[in-house]
Amino acid sequence: MSSLTVELTAPNGVKYTQPTGLFINNEWVASSKGNKITSINPTDESEIASVHAAEPEDVDKAVEAARAAFKGPWRDMATTERGDLMINLAGLIDQNKEVLATIETWDNGKPYSVALNEDLAEVAGCMKYYGGWADKIHGQVIDTSPAKLAYTIREPIGVCGQIIPWNYPLAMAAWKLGPAIACGNTVVLKSAEQTPLSILVFANLVKEAGFPPGVINIINGHGRVAGAAMAQHPGIDKIAFTGSTSTGREIMKMASLTMKNITLETGGKSPLLVFDDADLDQAVKWSHVGIMSNMGQICTATSRILVQESIYDKFIEAFKKQVTETSKVGDPFKDETFQGPQVTKAQYERVLGYIDTGKSEGATLAMGGEAYKNVGEGKGFFVSPTVFTNVKDSMRIFREEVFGPFVVVVSFKDEEEALALANDTTYGLGSALFTKDIVKAHRVARKIEAGMVWINSSQDSDYRIPFGGVKQSGIGRELGEAGLEAYTNKKAVHVNLGTWL
Ligand code: NAI
Ligand code: MG
Repeated sequence: MSSLTVELTAPNGVKYTQPTGLFINNEWVASSKGNKITSINPTDESEIASVHAAEPEDVDKAVEAARAAFKGPWRDMATTERGDLMINLAGLIDQNKEVLATIETWDNGKPYSVALNEDLAEVAGCMKYYGGWADKIHGQVIDTSPAKLAYTIREPIGVCGQIIPWNYPLAMAAWKLGPAIACGNTVVLKSAEQTPLSILVFANLVKEAGFPPGVINIINGHGRVAGAAMAQHPGIDKIAFTGSTSTGREIMKMASLTMKNITLETGGKSPLLVFDDADLDQAVKWSHVGIMSNMGQICTATSRILVQESIYDKFIEAFKKQVTETSKVGDPFKDETFQGPQVTKAQYERVLGYIDTGKSEGATLAMGGEAYKNVGEGKGFFVSPTVFTNVKDSMRIFREEVFGPFVVVVSFKDEEEALALANDTTYGLGSALFTKDIVKAHRVARKIEAGMVWINSSQDSDYRIPFGGVKQSGIGRELGEAGLEAYTNKKAVHVNLGTWL
């Protein structure tokens, strides 16, 4: 439908056709009430485009389409054919990566070079990886006695509802779509209202790749309307969610009504430990990447840096120098920019609010701590990279997820205190530690309460490796072979070969 598109020219000159409807059954449809979500460019606060926002009745339509596709072509399609479609899609993503990366940068504010070389590479790579898995998923024969043949079948779960956040719009979609469709599920995916645009261009590629109608349905919509309708929907068998811990909790509650299978990937306040025997230069570099990348909007951001007291002052000086030299704030389309704006006004105000909290709690503001107004005409949601020192474990800035270029640096005496501080959190997503002592490195890695540990690094992530949290950072794992577990049921079949005596 031609009225469900708009011709756009991005700030970097890229021209493209932006779909604005709901992608259901491989067709573009308007939302039932005509309500829209308007997307804002966080760099200059201008409006980019308005897209249709799904109502509960639109979610119903998407679920019906997904159910029909599940029972129809998809569940029983030859697995190699299913994998081929995914690999086609991966190829199309790669061919269209410039336009997709442009939209990510325009809508989200992340640096274009990162969107292109990291996010889009991951989106295509993840789709290809799971395309490769599609015909390698199998059950087992479990030997018990000659009288019985027992085996398992890995079955798809059914219709999966996937609710994603705005910090990595396309990558979060790929992490969820890849394993779900490889296993033979069909999907209704809702993207975040802050970044609704790139996924709609991606939807056109789904159709072009040759996927049957209804296998992948993509909608925009408000969390409390469309997201909540998905979480409660009797026709949805599984909900996978990435976002805040409080929303994750609400989704879990709603999903309990029909006892849906769930995977939740939520917040974090991940520690990074620097022991006095570490390579200080490396520790400083990774500490910077670990919190300032993606404007600090990473669920695994190592936002609490814990440094052994004998090297604390030295570390702070070197870290401040690293941030000053590397974290260039600016227009995300410019090559030299390391840090673009926060995604929305709400996130920007949230980070500024935590800066006030840190000051009033009595921590020392070592650098940054204010809005950054030197980009363009002074608009946009930019925040100076912010470092607080002399932080105590009782402070809110030590305990709560800020989700911005905002880090607290705390000192510890010895390994025991380092671990106590690291684990003194309700979260358990990422963690990092720096030491040259391999025995200590592996000992500490085992004792940290987290889903992931980086030794002498921070933020390594790879679609072949499981990703997820413990404690209130989530339930279940995404990526790698573990990601397939989240999208299959194991059916046990007992064949009686004996005779009743
Ligand atoms: P959010 O968790 O509310 O939103 C994430 C997704 O959930 C969006 O698609 C949203 O539409 C949907 N949603 C919201 N309420 C819902 C509901 N009641 N039922 C179903 N779906 C719902 O996160 P928000 O408000 O965008 O950000 C707030 C904070 O959450 C951030 O400051 C950050 O601390 C954290 N966050 C963590 C992320 C992560 O990667 N773990 C990603 C985004 C946010
Ligand atoms: Mg936006």
